[in-house]
Amino acid sequence: MQEPVIRITERPKPPRPEELNLRFSERAVKELEALFTHYPDKKSAMLPALWIAQREYGGHLTADAIAEVAYRLGRSYAEVEGVATFYTMYNKSPVGKYMLEVCTNLTCMICGAYRILEYLEQKLGIKLGETTPDGLFTLTEVECLNNCGDAPVMQVGDIYCRRLTPEKIDELIEQLRTGEEHSVVQLADAEVQIHLSERERETIEEALRRV
Ligand code: FES
Repeated sequence: MQEPVIRITERPKPPRPEELNLRFSERAVKELEALFTHYPDKKSAMLPALWIAQREYGGHLTADAIAEVAYRLGRSYAEVEGVATFYTMYNKSPVGKYMLEVCTNLTCMICGAYRILEYLEQKLGIKLGETTPDGLFTLTEVECLNNCGDAPVMQVGDIYCRRLTPEKIDELIEQLRTGEEHSVVQLADAEVQIHLSERERETIEEALRRV
């Protein structure tokens, strides 16, 4: 009889309560406190709290990061994990410093998105879903980036690269290789900042200066 094939997706083991290792920085804690005032209850701040965690944990949500959000929001690990795994913008495994997200939806596909993907795979020496050995680039495909008029399109952090050609890719990769910023972390930070008012940002800066 043929063996049944069972695929079990790897699920990181949640830490036990006594193993909880809180890693949010002072800034992160203050941001979270400010965010709580925007909502009727802590649970409603889950999405920005996960952005904070993604930034604080270096670009992806580990089991510890999810457990910390659950602890700070007073929710169960399973509940926070359910939200974190539903949305694709939260990374569940380590990713490169730059996420190259190529749109392969209809318009981009017709305009050569798969040729662009192949070019990137050859140039970086990785396959879709992989990260370069130097930890710089992760290559993924995404659904419509809502920029169909400029297809084919790729998102890198908060930058949209439009009307892609191999030449444009060469130029971009070169720029990113010498760049200082960490676009995955910066994107998470930008998302958090969007939720905070000017006044809240000033108050947080002021409080941190006093420490
Ligand atoms: S199909 Fe690629 S941006 Fe819309």
